[in-house]
Amino acid sequence: MKTIIEPFKIKSVEQILFTTKKQRTQILKDADYNPFRITAEDVLIDLLTDSGTSAMSSRQWAGMMQGDESYAGSPSFFHFEQSVKDVMGFPIVIPTHQGRAAEKILFTILGGKGKYFISNTLFDTTRANIEFSGAEGIDCLCEEGKHPTIPAPFKGNMDVDALKKVIREEGASVIPMVILTVTNNSGGGQPVSMQNIREVSTVCKENKIPFFIDACRFAENSYCIKLREEGYAHKSVPEIAAEMFSYADGCTMSAKKDAFANIGGFLAMRDLDLALRCRNLLIITEGFTTYGGLAGRDLEAIAIGLKEVMDEHYLQYRIRSIEYLTNKLIEAGVPVMQPAGGHAVYIDAKEFLKHIPVEQYPGQALVCALYTEGGIRSVEIGSLMFGKYDNGGKLIPSQMELVRLAIPRRVYTQSHIDYVAEVIIEVFEKRESIKGLKIIEETPLLRHFTAKLSLV
Ligand code: F0G
Repeated sequence: MKTIIEPFKIKSVEQILFTTKKQRTQILKDADYNPFRITAEDVLIDLLTDSGTSAMSSRQWAGMMQGDESYAGSPSFFHFEQSVKDVMGFPIVIPTHQGRAAEKILFTILGGKGKYFISNTLFDTTRANIEFSGAEGIDCLCEEGKHPTIPAPFKGNMDVDALKKVIREEGASVIPMVILTVTNNSGGGQPVSMQNIREVSTVCKENKIPFFIDACRFAENSYCIKLREEGYAHKSVPEIAAEMFSYADGCTMSAKKDAFANIGGFLAMRDLDLALRCRNLLIITEGFTTYGGLAGRDLEAIAIGLKEVMDEHYLQYRIRSIEYLTNKLIEAGVPVMQPAGGHAVYIDAKEFLKHIPVEQYPGQALVCALYTEGGIRSVEIGSLMFGKYDNGGKLIPSQMELVRLAIPRRVYTQSHIDYVAEVIIEVFEKRESIKGLKIIEETPLLRHFTAKLSLV
């Protein structure tokens, strides 16, 4: 097989500003060992997130110029609405400014004290919006999904028996919704199989519980089904996506991922009554029903991106890039989550930095080392992000200490990825010299964004 090439030509470029290791050591110190506090210009390769960081196509930019900015009834809205209907098949489409705005609306309406939302794994903002309403979120991830280094094709699947057990114990009347996150971001970007989607849908129908999909990375999930699930190799990605959504009652979407947009999101559904309530709240918080907090030009970019993302040459390059980086790291003995996920590589920092105790945040220590060594920005998904304190002020660590390297869509080429692998392997070879960190300042909520740390 020949080299899989980037399926695009580059028309416009952004300059990367180079820094030396000495400069980066100072920059990191000035940012109190928290790369969220660094200006993006001081980053060489930014793998903080794949959200809102895509390179748009010339077609999307052309569409932006045609965006109609009418407050009500903009043709850009109808273009957007049609595109969502074509791809997902839901008859009702409600635009929002990003994914969490869709979540806020949905869970404000359906949530509240005494209610339970069940998922494979709820993403942080989804869980936060559920909890903010007073309800609780319950993750029922399949067993394979809980072991980072043991490969399996669909580690994002829901444990259907666990789902049934929660329904039996709590009662369907207090479960307003079941949500499948595809791919499962917090669980390593792992896909969910069609069979699992079908089974979850059946259980929900039997119990009259609405079933939604958190569809941020629906195209990556569809392509993984094509590659890994029996009976789907000859189906097209649009056919697979349509089948996935046919089992659901609706979806929430962040268009900042699999729609190649820099901003945007939506809610889509079949239930008219729920839609009416969502639209009422939308008007109060986001804007009128035909723009929902977005400019007409953003709606155009989403309408076009949603279809472009299903191009199989693109998806082959996308999934292969993540796998390429993952495999290079595995060959060098670096402990990573396996198999490769759809949008990111996850390093097991607890294994990588065995000499740093969890109280000294090994994930964040690795994030800092990757920045200093090679100017790469990544994010800790471990005890800095999820850790809590007990009554005595002792850290209750997160279950895993991961570092996520999320790959923006259509932004970096193979040589950038090769460089990333070289830096990680170099850091791995001298891992013993890396020091742990302690927190010197933090906020009670979402502390990882702003926390200040220092070297132990
Ligand atoms: N659901 C999932 C699975 C996500 O990954 C995200 C965002 C959201 C919902 C919320 O969407 O950002 O548009 O409000 N994930 C980003 C990330 C932030 O870096 O993984 P949003």
